[in-house]
This record gives sequence, C-alpha cells and structure tokens, in this order.
Amino acid sequence: METIPEGLDGERVREVLQRLGLCAPDEPLAFEPLAGGVSSDIVRVDLPGRSLCVKRALARLKVAADWRVPVGRSAHEAEWLRVAGEIVPDAVPRLLGYDPVLGALAMAWLDPERHPVWKGLLHQGHCEPGFAAAVAQHIVAIHARTAGDPGIAARFDTGPLFHALRLEPYLLATAERHPSLADRLRTIARTTAATRLALVHGDASPKNILAGPGGPVLLDAECAWYGDPAFDAAFCLNHLLLKCLWTPAAAGALLACFDAFAASYLAGVRWESSARLAARVGALLPALLLARVDGKSPVEYLVDERDRAFVRRVASALLVDPPATPAAIADAWRGALATR
Ligand SMILES: Nc1ncnc2c1ncn2[C@@H]1O[C@H](COP(=O)(O)OP(=O)(O)O)[C@@H](O)[C@H]1O
Ligand SMILES: [Mg+2]
Repeated sequence: METIPEGLDGERVREVLQRLGLCAPDEPLAFEPLAGGVSSDIVRVDLPGRSLCVKRALARLKVAADWRVPVGRSAHEAEWLRVAGEIVPDAVPRLLGYDPVLGALAMAWLDPERHPVWKGLLHQGHCEPGFAAAVAQHIVAIHARTAGDPGIAARFDTGPLFHALRLEPYLLATAERHPSLADRLRTIARTTAATRLALVHGDASPKNILAGPGGPVLLDAECAWYGDPAFDAAFCLNHLLLKCLWTPAAAGALLACFDAFAASYLAGVRWESSARLAARVGALLPALLLARVDGKSPVEYLVDERDRAFVRRVASALLVDPPATPAAIADAWRGALATR
C-alpha cells in the first residue's frame, strides 16, 4: 500500500538523491518541474556542475479523474531503463538509480535544445523516414534480445498493470462504446494478454521519444511488460496514422515514416515468423486507432468531429476485415485519406 503522499518537492528530491549517493548533504540543489507528464511528477534537478532528472509515478493520471492506476510503476520504468540500457545504450537516458523508499528514479538529464520531442517535430512537418526506421530498430532490438528470456519474463511479470494501463482503458473501454465490435476488441485484448514473448515498452508514442544528436531516445517505460511485442509496433504506427489528421500537409511524409518503421521493425523480428507478428499488428492497430478516439485516453488533437468520424469509419472496417500486414493498413489509410 502507498502511504507516502504524492508529489516531489525539494525535500523529497534531496532525500532521493542523497539516498542514491547522487548528492552530498550540503550541496545546493535547485529543481524545476517539467511540463508534459500526465502520469508522473518529473523534475529537472540542478546541482553544482551537473543536472539530472527525477521521476515519480502518480496514483491518479492527470488526464482523467477516474483513471487510477497502481503506483510503483517507476520501479518497472527503472528496471526497463537498466535492461534497455544494456541493449541500446545510446537510445535511452542513463539510469542513475532507483529509490524504492519514495518510488522515484533518477536518470541523466537530456538537454531539450538538443533532444526535441519527436511528436513536436512530426507536427512541424519534420518527418524523416530514416529516424522512424531507427526508432523501430531500437524497439525491435530490445524485443529480440529479451525474447524467450525467463529472467526478464520474471522481472516484468506486470500483466495486471498492463491490463489496467493499456488493455482496459484502450481496448475494453472502446468495446463498451462499440457493441457491434465488442467481441472483436475483447478477443484482441485477450490474445494480447496471453502473448508473452518479449519485453514490451508499452508506451512507444512519439511524445515519449526524443530526437537526440545520436538518434532516437526512448523514454517513459512505466507500462513495461513481458508480453506481446506487436503492441509496441502497433502503438507507434498508430500515432503516425493519427498524426496525418493533425498535420494534413505532412500526411505523405508521415506515411513514409510509417512504411519505414514497419519495414525496419519486421526486418528485425527473429523470435517468431514476421508474418505472424505482422498479423497481430494488423489486428491491434485498428483497435488502437479506434481507442484513441473512443477509449479512455483520446488523443487531444482530434477535436474536429469529422476527423473522429473518419477514424471510426476506417478503423471499424479494418477491425471487421483485419489486414495481414501493417503495409495493408497504410494502403487503406492512404486510400481513405485520398477520397475523404
Ligand atoms: N531524462 C530526461 N531529460 C530531460 N527531459 C526529460 C527526461 N525524461 C523526460 N523528460 C521530459 O519530460 C517529459 C515527460 O517525461 P515522461 O517520462 O514521458 O513522463 P510521463 O510519464 O509523465 O509522460 C518528456 O516528454 C520530456 O520532455
Ligand atoms: Mg510520457
């Protein structure tokens, strides 16, 4: 049970850093809360000659009053940073430590000037297929290296958390809103929950990916779960589709990013046939499309009812007749955009 009140203040930040041996008792410390996080308190900390970042998960997400989730997620995020840091060291912030007393992690500070958030770049029309391919390479490298590892499976046995944070609010909440698609959505949720193959990030969205000088940096793995790697691919690809409606002028470039991501991801699938994995992406992606309009966590930028109706129409057709590959979904999306 969580008994420590929420929040990160200067005293708590100092307490965490001292326990982790990252700051001396008499060192001056300045901290500044970061904007953008919805499920955590996250702060920049400045100490003499160095900066770092401290993050602590909240029990209540800032997006929806009724969406309560277990705390302790920062422990999984820290553990994911540790594992991913060994596989793709340049593609994650370096973990500096995890404090189980307050449930907070400390990681290297990444200067936002040199590490813009990918979501913002995409919205500005900076859509580079090579970058999307690099994101996919990092994600699939983590999947490939953790696939079939019983030790990793035991460390990320977070099925109930993944259910609470992903399957319920996205797929099952959407099923409630769409009775005619409910069986299909519930089947996809069940299949996903039962597919335990590799270490999944769980929130591979452009808002959680920075574009650093050395390539993509993946953040925010508090939904980490040993489960279905197709989820990460579908989750990220879904955002590239939705952003075509947010930034219509960049739709062609966003779809080029989609193609590059999908090709690069599938080329790295070693633990099962890429056709099997592609089919699960083909099932999940339309479900996630619909979920980002009618689930508990709708994307904030689809405010025009015509855009929402468009997503519902395309996603529903793809759920009824699931495509075998991500490429087939891109074709359907392209075709629908061209004739809307
Ligand atoms: N190590 C870091 N260095 C600098 N900024 C960071 C770092 N980690 C996160 N951020 C910034 O904080 C934002 C929120 O972080 P994130 O881990 O995604 O938290 P949340 O779980 O609340 O979404 C990111 O979009 C990024 O701008
Ligand atoms: Mg985030």
